Amino acid sequence: MGDGYTVAVVGAGLVGEKLVSELRRRNFPAREIRVLARTARTATLAGEEFEIGVAEPDAFEGVDFAFFAGTEGEKGAAVQLAREAIDRGAIVIDNGSDFRLDPDVPLVVPEVNADALENHNGLIANANCSTITMLLPLAPLIRTFGVKRVIVSTYQAVSGSGREGVEALEDGREGVYPRQIAGNAIPLIGSVGEDGYTTEERKMRLESRKILDLPDLEVFPTAVRIPVHTGHSESVYVETEREVSLDEVIEVLRSAPGVTFSGDANDYPTPLEAAGESNTYVGRVRVEGNSVQFWCVADNLLKGAATNAVQIAESLVGARV
Ligand SMILES: NC(=O)c1ccc[n+]([C@@H]2O[C@H](COP(=O)([O-])OP(=O)(O)OC[C@H]3O[C@@H](n4cnc5c(N)ncnc54)[C@H](OP(=O)(O)O)[C@@H]3O)[C@@H](O)[C@H]2O)c1
Repeated sequence: MGDGYTVAVVGAGLVGEKLVSELRRRNFPAREIRVLARTARTATLAGEEFEIGVAEPDAFEGVDFAFFAGTEGEKGAAVQLAREAIDRGAIVIDNGSDFRLDPDVPLVVPEVNADALENHNGLIANANCSTITMLLPLAPLIRTFGVKRVIVSTYQAVSGSGREGVEALEDGREGVYPRQIAGNAIPLIGSVGEDGYTTEERKMRLESRKILDLPDLEVFPTAVRIPVHTGHSESVYVETEREVSLDEVIEVLRSAPGVTFSGDANDYPTPLEAAGESNTYVGRVRVEGNSVQFWCVADNLLKGAATNAVQIAESLVGARV
């Protein structure tokens, strides 16, 4: 691979475009970036013109890394084409949720469980954007102080629903959300299951358990869509095994990889500031006995999707930048 890898990006939507920009910004050793979608066309992504090809099995000939950012489900790109790409020699990194809980598929946030990459079978799943955002500060806290339960409320941006979500906010497009999103807050993301939790909430619970290798971890999420363009915010409460002090928590958060935390009680991150950045930003830390509360924000299209996916590929090629 002296002159770099052949990379496919499946999907030319919000995440697909960020994948292109992150591959370039992080100097991923790509000799070719092949963008694939449902229809062939010429399009500009991240300032670069691409001849977009149709995502079909033969389009993966010669591809070393295939980043999937198409739609999910039975007819979605990953379910239809991931195996075809792997059979042609590619390593697939999937941004969707189709394979995340498959025991044969590593579900990876590199700062938290890069070791899970050791036994991959060609397919690696990127975690849910809200899960990634929360786990960067939460994992080191749990690993240092132990955990009894986690309670989290999210404030999620419309770009988390792709181009349609942005159009729902900016142009009043109907049919994307169950209620009007402009000027509103919608406490239902995905569909409600028999237990009352939504699909998004179940992702946060089940993916956290898998990534942290804590199958019984108690996670109680409430996922809320708000009229913000980009940047998922979360209010997190974690009950630790032992009593902790504010100084101890600050020390853990300051040294947590992928976390930016000033330690100033009056400093807090917002989605506007986190948008365009790669880390999870943390603020409003409060500690009392066994209770730790904090506020965190990350760019759902970057660390919540494209940056995390490119970091996974970097871990595999050892090409840190
Ligand atoms: N947005 C986020 O914050 C976020 C975060 C984490 C994960 N994800 C996941 O990433 C994926 C993409 O999200 P997005 O926000 O980029 O969506 P998006 O803006 O709606 O873009 C979707 C893209 O996927 C392409 N596509 C759809 N079905 C396809 C198929 N069967 N084969 C090939 N291409 C197909 C579309 O092609 P055409 O352009 O030809 O129609 C479009 O370019 C989804 O699975 C989503 O759940 C999103």
